[in-house]
Amino acid sequence: MLGGLASKVGFANSRAFDIDADLPDLSGKVAVVTGGNDGIGFITVRALWRKGCKVYLACRSEQKARDAIARLTKEHPGSDHTLVFLPFDLTQLASAKKAGETLEQNESRLDIVVCNAGVMAWPYELVNGVEVQFWNHLGHFALVQAVLPLLKKTAQAPGATSVRVVSVSSVAHQMSPKPDYSSLESVNRQMTSTWQRYGQSKLANIHFAVALQNRLEGENIRVNTLHPGNINTSLMRGPVASYGFFGKVIKATTSRFLMTPDDGAKTQIYLAASREVDEKDYRGKYFIPIATPATPTAYAQDKELADQLWRLSEDLVKQLST
Ligand SMILES: NC(=O)c1ccc[n+]([C@@H]2O[C@H](COP(=O)([O-])OP(=O)(O)OC[C@H]3O[C@@H](n4cnc5c(N)ncnc54)[C@H](OP(=O)(O)O)[C@@H]3O)[C@@H](O)[C@H]2O)c1
Repeated sequence: MLGGLASKVGFANSRAFDIDADLPDLSGKVAVVTGGNDGIGFITVRALWRKGCKVYLACRSEQKARDAIARLTKEHPGSDHTLVFLPFDLTQLASAKKAGETLEQNESRLDIVVCNAGVMAWPYELVNGVEVQFWNHLGHFALVQAVLPLLKKTAQAPGATSVRVVSVSSVAHQMSPKPDYSSLESVNRQMTSTWQRYGQSKLANIHFAVALQNRLEGENIRVNTLHPGNINTSLMRGPVASYGFFGKVIKATTSRFLMTPDDGAKTQIYLAASREVDEKDYRGKYFIPIATPATPTAYAQDKELADQLWRLSEDLVKQLST
């Protein structure tokens, strides 16, 4: 009962997921993890890499990415060629395109993309013409568009296991008002709080997963989305920037009750690589911690909205790239 209650408010239920036992050997596979330098992105990189996967850390800060790689290679000296910094900033469409080109040039396959990077509860700001938190979606949309040919090629190779795209959302998608993805102005609009705009971006992460999966009919590509848990990470920088001292107090008082990044990363690691996702044929599904299918809000289940978001995202990527 307590597990059920905990998972309803965004914490982990009692499901066990043992990364070592439940993930297959990933040798020969290639993954991209956005925001792989910190928080649950870093733990995700570590889990995939320890299983033999070559992992690109798609990060906006080269220094932070290289520091993260150094922390990992301390464990296994000499294996740093299987951890690669990939320049990527959610708010820079050109970086998504370039990241796609880099992968096309250097890799013959791409098995896993974990769309993990993001900011939370950031003060209102337009960055390159788009509300800062909406980039949590749009940057990932552009990146996945750029690597889709490589993902499809990988999925179509003889004997291939399923290719995975994981879209990291949040229970905070529940805070979004009814989304209006009809125009840039509507997604850029001011809302009553920064949490509503964060909610909009996290709802978009779910709609993106659903819309992408629907466009991959017949492909051996599984796209799923999740709330990872309420976790003690650097994500609280946003509320501190929005609320100042009060944000710091919230951070200090809540941090001790939150999940560890090790536990918080489990659900996306599961979706990125576990055998069970194939066995249970999960596609376009929403998960809560740990590794448990769940039902998101009615808005999140609205396929018309998912299609509207897809059309807007295609238009914006074209319009803002020129
Ligand atoms: N922590 C939670 O309780 C929680 C709950 C629900 C959902 N989530 C989701 O989980 C994901 C990971 O969050 P986390 O908790 O691990 O937070 P985190 O420790 O703050 O990590 C966020 C990562 O995203 C990167 N990032 C932020 N803005 C970026 C940009 N414009 N371009 C490229 N990378 C950018 C950060 O890079 P820098 O280091 O350079 O800033 C960092 O690597 C997010 O999508 C978040 O919404 C977290």
